[in-house]
Amino acid sequence: MLKPWLKLKGTLILHTSKDRRPAIARAAALLAGGGLVAFPTETVYGLAAAINCPGAVARIFEVKGRPADNPLIVHISSLEQLFEVASAVSPEALRLCKRFWPGPLSLVLPRSTAITPVVSAGLPTVAVRMPAHPLALELITATGAPLAAPSANLSGRPSPTTAAHVLEDLAGKIDAVLDGGACRVGVESTVLDLTGPRPVILRPGGITREALEQFLKVPLRGIPGGKPGEPPRSPGMKYRHYSPRAPLILITGPPHRREKLIRSLAGYYRARGRAVAILRSPEAGQIPGESIEAMARLLYAALRAYDSHKVELILAEETCSEGIGLAVMNRLRKAATRVIKA
Ligand code: TXA
Ligand code: MG
Repeated sequence: MLKPWLKLKGTLILHTSKDRRPAIARAAALLAGGGLVAFPTETVYGLAAAINCPGAVARIFEVKGRPADNPLIVHISSLEQLFEVASAVSPEALRLCKRFWPGPLSLVLPRSTAITPVVSAGLPTVAVRMPAHPLALELITATGAPLAAPSANLSGRPSPTTAAHVLEDLAGKIDAVLDGGACRVGVESTVLDLTGPRPVILRPGGITREALEQFLKVPLRGIPGGKPGEPPRSPGMKYRHYSPRAPLILITGPPHRREKLIRSLAGYYRARGRAVAILRSPEAGQIPGESIEAMARLLYAALRAYDSHKVELILAEETCSEGIGLAVMNRLRKAATRVIKA
């Protein structure tokens, strides 16, 4: 019996709260038939195409408005699939997989010629990860192929951490969204390049730099962003990202001076009738128990909420760059239209 799923502008909303099997089966059938399905991971929602459907992989770029030179991450649910998508897996890479997978770590490895080059935007490498979300793993397994998936947002918009965010951007443009509730981590995976002489973090994310350094016993410095004028190692790094519609001013400097500047800027603009939102660092200690992990989890939802509440200016406070704070600061810098040092 076919389940009467809800649709929004033609996009199926596949709920998983009671029995998730029919939703997974439907999503997998759509993917195997060359469809595009958004699905939850522990970091953010991804927009998937089966890797053995090159036409569908190419359509991801169209639907998102993604530049053709920005490669996608391949999601796998078993270690065997790693050897299908990568042409070489070093002992170091394997050790990292065993320690950090399933989890928010994407490894850049030499790409197997058996998979479509479209996934890597023509690069000879491929980024791979095994997500730590039961629905993601079950979906990959049910589809029977690795899934190429960037974040399920329109290019340039904040990444989606709920099915509602996905629908905001992509309803009517994709076949379905598998609704698994809110994502646990909230910022994307760490992208670690293992194809050079030493490992390089191309994008900070859910697995902290400290955890990687401790495990690899090497310092991982000089990232992210690269040096000015250097060609970016990760194509994604050159694009402005994660942008809300309102301008975002990032306020850096010592905590008490940041606080003062935020108050006076907010006062100035509010007195002139502007709708101003303030994104405080958890270090400000205004809400007891608030952590940098909670900030990471809620950051993109906050940026989207500012849009829907017609906020005209966002004042964001610098936060500590330790742990997942490095990823939060990276996203704030990319979202910022201006940085002001207090
Ligand atoms: O947590 C995540 O990684 C989420 C979920 C859905 O898994 N995915 C995600 O994908 O954030 P996306 O496309 O939004 O970001 C992929 C990043 C980009 O910065 C891209 O440039 C980089 O990974 N990347 C992908 N393949 C690469 C490659 N072969 N070499 C260098 N960078 C690569
Ligand atoms: Mg993205």
